[in-house]
Amino acid sequence: MTLPGSPHVAYRGSELFVDDCRLSDLAQRFGTPLYVYSRRSMLAALAAYQRALVGRKHLLCYAMKANSNLAVLQTFARAGCGFDIVSGGELERVLATGGDPAKVVFSGVGKTRAEMQRALQAGVRCFNVESETELELLSKIATASQRTARVSLRVNPDVDAGTHPYISTGLKGNKFGIAHDQALAVYRRAARLPGLEVVGIDCHIGSQITDTSPYLDALDRLLDLVEAIEADGIATIHHVDVGGGLGITYTDESPPAADVLVMALLARIDARGHGHREVWFEPGRSLVGTAGVLLSEVLALKHGEQKNFCIVDAAMNDLVRPAMYEAWMGIVPCTLRDEAPRTYDVVGPVCESGDWLGRERALAVREGDRIAVLSAGAYGMVMASNYNTRPRAAEVMVDGDQAWLIREREEVRDLFARERLIE
Ligand code: LLP
Repeated sequence: MTLPGSPHVAYRGSELFVDDCRLSDLAQRFGTPLYVYSRRSMLAALAAYQRALVGRKHLLCYAMKANSNLAVLQTFARAGCGFDIVSGGELERVLATGGDPAKVVFSGVGKTRAEMQRALQAGVRCFNVESETELELLSKIATASQRTARVSLRVNPDVDAGTHPYISTGLKGNKFGIAHDQALAVYRRAARLPGLEVVGIDCHIGSQITDTSPYLDALDRLLDLVEAIEADGIATIHHVDVGGGLGITYTDESPPAADVLVMALLARIDARGHGHREVWFEPGRSLVGTAGVLLSEVLALKHGEQKNFCIVDAAMNDLVRPAMYEAWMGIVPCTLRDEAPRTYDVVGPVCESGDWLGRERALAVREGDRIAVLSAGAYGMVMASNYNTRPRAAEVMVDGDQAWLIREREEVRDLFARERLIE
């Protein structure tokens, strides 16, 4: 049986493995719910971007919002990767990992004064600015601290990424970026403000994109602007940052391979005479998504007249994508049984009807068995909550037959440690 997603997650006989680690063994050893990631799979995903960029001035910034565990960041930092951050908290994670601030881009639609100050002091490579207000505040902060902030404007190219509305970000109606038709004026303003150095242009049109054409459309819109900015003598644009967003295979999607996408973009950049500029990317999901699984134990099976429920110990608080976006994620047993499957809704213990991980799934499972939710490496653990006072899961990194606990399971007492009783 071949599974969608990473080749590093596969059955050997009737047992599901990540690399050379049997998932039933990991579940036994570390308990469930448990996130397991393959380091090899992450590095292979990064290598696809890197090989397409050989010989090019470029910067690959892992969008760490997808999975910000320190060991994941360490893996990418060691492989030469920079980071795309969206908060002061993410910056502290990069610094705690020993990541290089000179390879950090600071994105985000609402940066606070304190975050800007800290990022300036740390020496981030570039601020991806999303409004005129932010530009002015950054200029003030930089001037007051006698520093220069390198800036790029996040342009909203008004391109439909063809993805779920909650993860589509490059359309006129979105809160993100500076409207394309206002961008030239804002660049003019940026170039005049003290404490700022205009260095680039960026966009990010959405996530889980499975087609190359919206990227090419967005790139064309950016290059039009670059030409106008330079023709007017406003600034020199050193880099073009095309954001992240490349999709992965959860079921039957067939997104372009990262190297194919990158080469298509480079070809367009060259064809339009912009080959001398640096090209930056901010991939998140496509670097970590398929590398991870969420393991869970079957607590109970309920066979009803209308529906069967497979109640597992992982819930929407552990993995919210199905509940939040009606996202389809593969669910398979850790040990295959030679029995006829039944159709189940796979649900968690949280007191919400929206608490489901998969609907109408054919599974041959018994109580006490373990299941794996596939391609859960991105936007899984990072979006977990403590709803229903449920401690968050543990995380394990695997490489070959080695497994490291990279985040301890939370304990209930951690959850109310900062709360106080009153008189
Ligand atoms: N750059 C910026 C400015 C972003 O906002 C994002 C993601 C990325 C890069 C990385 O995009 P990626 O390569 O991962 O698609 N929670 C949602 C996805 C939200 C994406 C938010 N922005 C989900 O689970 O589908």
